[in-house]
Amino acid sequence: MCGIVGYVGFDPATPILLKGLEKLEYRGYDSAGVAVYDEKDGLRIEKAKGKLRVLCEKLHDGKDVNGTIGIGHTRWATHGAPSDINSHPQVSDHGKFAVVHNGIIENYLTLKEFLLGKGITFVSETDTEVIAQLLEYYYEGNIFSALVKVLQKLEGSYALGVICTDAPNELYAVRKDSPLIVGLGKGENFIASDVPAILSKTRDIYRLKDQEIVKLTRNQVEVLNMDGARIEKEKVHIDWDVNAAEKGGYEHFMFKEIMEQPKALRDTISPRLRDGRIVLDDITLTREQVEKIRRICVVACGSAYHVGMVAKYTLEKLTRIPVEAEVASELRYRDPIIDKSTLVIVVSQSGETADTLAALREAKKRGARVLSIVNVVGSSIANESDDVIYTWAGPEIAVATTKAYSTQLAVVYMIAIYLADLLGKLSPEEYENYIQCLQKLPEQVEDALKDKESIQYFASKYFNAKDIFFIGRNLDYALSMEGSLKLKEISYIHSEAYAAGELKHGTISLIENGTLVVALATIDSLFEKIMSNVKEVKARGAYVLGVTTREHTAIQSEADYAFYVPKTCEMMQPSLAVIPLQLFAYYVAAMKGCDIDKPRNLAKSVTVE
Ligand code: F6R
Repeated sequence: MCGIVGYVGFDPATPILLKGLEKLEYRGYDSAGVAVYDEKDGLRIEKAKGKLRVLCEKLHDGKDVNGTIGIGHTRWATHGAPSDINSHPQVSDHGKFAVVHNGIIENYLTLKEFLLGKGITFVSETDTEVIAQLLEYYYEGNIFSALVKVLQKLEGSYALGVICTDAPNELYAVRKDSPLIVGLGKGENFIASDVPAILSKTRDIYRLKDQEIVKLTRNQVEVLNMDGARIEKEKVHIDWDVNAAEKGGYEHFMFKEIMEQPKALRDTISPRLRDGRIVLDDITLTREQVEKIRRICVVACGSAYHVGMVAKYTLEKLTRIPVEAEVASELRYRDPIIDKSTLVIVVSQSGETADTLAALREAKKRGARVLSIVNVVGSSIANESDDVIYTWAGPEIAVATTKAYSTQLAVVYMIAIYLADLLGKLSPEEYENYIQCLQKLPEQVEDALKDKESIQYFASKYFNAKDIFFIGRNLDYALSMEGSLKLKEISYIHSEAYAAGELKHGTISLIENGTLVVALATIDSLFEKIMSNVKEVKARGAYVLGVTTREHTAIQSEADYAFYVPKTCEMMQPSLAVIPLQLFAYYVAAMKGCDIDKPRNLAKSVTVE
């Protein structure tokens, strides 16, 4: 989704904006632009469709544009095709206001008609231009008042950066349902959609809440509510290692993040294991409250929803409470059976996904208690949940999630064991066994990663495939969904995931000579069942890659090629079996020469519906 950077200080703004935008490229975009003000040159707007490098080349990395205040933007098109004109910043009719925007203004057509009726000319197809025009229309010498008037008219979501030619030392920003942070420097201040954009400049930030308006000058940051009253904000210090948001010698962030999984798992699990017990200090759910839970509903999007599918199998098995997993964009528009006896578990890496946030709000409206599993500290989903368990995966930059997915799984296991134990459903032996498995998981993931060359070899044989099917049963089915998504999103190869027993009810007609079928067979009790499905597809000409645990060497007599992963308890097997699937997707995409970290049409943080 769109990325915003803003700067006010003493240094040339343009290089800083361009460098900041570069750090937000991971969010996904199709054009970029900057607006910079200089006393001599006035307001200069520079935009370019395509990669940021096109804009950087045009501006000689910013050397060509003077000025020490400005706003920059990478646009992920929603209203109007990617083009120079539709790129942001958008400017008001008489050039007084320049605006960058992330989000969607839902009532922009009504507002546009109103402004057209007043004789105002529009140049773009964007909803954002309406904001710039409205600002100029309502402006009577006070930018803050104009901004409040405009915000009162807007319906939808926004993070905004605004500059005005009448106040060449002031930068304004505000957000609603779209992320935006403020970076606090010395003699310079910043706004940005995410921390990496400003990390080389400052580690002190404010996280903005909805409709907090910020006025930034070189030496001051004022946060005001819509009535103009000052809000005292808590300064947050970011203590990430800068390398966490850099490639650190790897060719792609995705590969770096795959390799970081053992550490991410250790960081997520270790602080929550004390004296052989799971300690979830983060949550305040009491035993009485847990006993009253009649249903659990896991809500998320994309890969996080696939974690939800694993959670359904796992939580149901251990707690015997009925569990449903649902994609957030569906849940929010039906009439879900959710009330105060429902525990809603929300899963999100970014903590800003628009559909997930809306589903959370719907669940809360209906009286449910919300427990979220989130990676980004202080994000909207974290802020609005009753309880949050953070996945300590560190910043995830590649669009395709890997380490966040793995740490979400680990948190799901911990919640399942914790709840089952509170409900008295686990024997001491079972409990101890699960704890041991959790403790060993990071090291076993490390072990699974060692096999990468054989996966790379296999990928070299199949990177030209047209269709790839993933099949599995139970937890392996949930994992098939993730393996298939990973592959299609970064390699653009068509792929489908099927519950293995379901294939013969239609989809098996798609299997032809040589079609690659990846069969996941990590559940002991279902091994023979899945082997029958392997026979079915092989009989129709499929080439089968089997993924199983190391003792199931019998897979060799059924599948054409096998990957083995270390063995853990059934519940945690997806954490190990996902490794070859992530690596396979990565190597296939690399061999096809795809833009792995920024796949086409995709965005990292999906802050629009
Ligand atoms: C796929 C992927 C997406 C996200 C989804 C939810 O690799 O990363 O499917 O899982 O967009 O995003 P979050 O977890 O930020 O809510």
